[in-house]
Amino acid sequence: MGAVKIKDGFYWVGAVDWNVRDFHGYTTHRGSTYNAYLLVDSEKTVLFDTVKAGFFETLMTHIREVIGDPEKIDYLVINHIEPDHGGSIARVVEAVKPEKIFCTRNARLGMIGYFHREDWPFVEVKTGDELKTGTRTIKFIETPMVHWPDSMVSYIPEDKILISQDAFGEHYATSTRFDDEANFCELFQEVAKYYANIVLPFSPQVQKVLKAIKDLGLEIEMICPDHGVIWRRHVKEIVEAYDRWSRYEAKPRVLVIYDTMWASTEMMAWAVYEGAVKEGVEAELFKLSVSDETELMAEVLEAKGIAFGSPTLNNGLLPTVAGFTTYMKGLRPRKKLGLAFGSYGWSGEAVKHLNKIFEETKTELVHEGFKVKYRPTKEDLAKCEELGRLLARKVKEACGV
Ligand code: FEO
Repeated sequence: MGAVKIKDGFYWVGAVDWNVRDFHGYTTHRGSTYNAYLLVDSEKTVLFDTVKAGFFETLMTHIREVIGDPEKIDYLVINHIEPDHGGSIARVVEAVKPEKIFCTRNARLGMIGYFHREDWPFVEVKTGDELKTGTRTIKFIETPMVHWPDSMVSYIPEDKILISQDAFGEHYATSTRFDDEANFCELFQEVAKYYANIVLPFSPQVQKVLKAIKDLGLEIEMICPDHGVIWRRHVKEIVEAYDRWSRYEAKPRVLVIYDTMWASTEMMAWAVYEGAVKEGVEAELFKLSVSDETELMAEVLEAKGIAFGSPTLNNGLLPTVAGFTTYMKGLRPRKKLGLAFGSYGWSGEAVKHLNKIFEETKTELVHEGFKVKYRPTKEDLAKCEELGRLLARKVKEACGV
């Protein structure tokens, strides 16, 4: 696809990556985009961010479509340096020869770290700094850790456009560029998945960014992130979703996440799940050996109650359970209710390990956990069902339903 006019003098000039399926471990079944934006104003022409290294030529083609010679670009604004956006910076600087590169102090240090070019014409900016480009103003707002320490967003008040780098983005390749042209259901699945797998650890910082936007009184008609679609119809919905997720608000839903060696923990998992269903909450069952961890994190984001099941293997957890819980712990979900269960043969430490993971994620336990030697009896399964009911009741109480 070619460059896309977003507003008079403001263009999408990025790249669509239909084929990426692994984004540093994140499974991107629907591809992604690396968005860059070009502002052509009466006095200055500005490029916001660049693209992943392999897409440099696409970026240049799109820039040429709009302004002919890339050297007409006066300024670069680098909102975020992670290589999915910053991978082309060195080649862009060479092609464009910008008069100035606006970025945060951490972005300057980061670019020097990646490209070893202290001689580039960096201009460090802070929250509240402004740049006039002719008829427009660019305001900068630092957003440290949303997504990296270098991150900031840019706002154009005359157009009410927020250029938000990773924030409000999603890995979603589409042939059209706007939210109202995409499949809304797929789009919001990808937005939740992106939040759960990329943004969730930085939820307290997201709250600060949302507060800054409010305090500065920014009117936003359009959000232009560095991944996925441009928001113009559903701005309110995406901002509200970020507010909800960053406050760790969850739905009255129970997830039973487990893996099994010889089916005993699986029998327990089904019984816990049945109990939750009988208590009248929405419940979902995930066996880790056949589940996609990236997709599963989106489920974790939205569920209030989580039951983890693992048999004991060599005094520890089954590797699939250890792997997922380690990944999940790093993403720092909070304000969940938890229950651990599992079978064992002789030592039986799995429940203890799962409870430790719950403690580390500040999850409130609804029970001390339940372990069963070898194969669960009818009574054991009845107990698992009762524990599923208990978790569901606590979830309903906590969610006020
Ligand atoms: Fe899309 Fe943090 O880079």
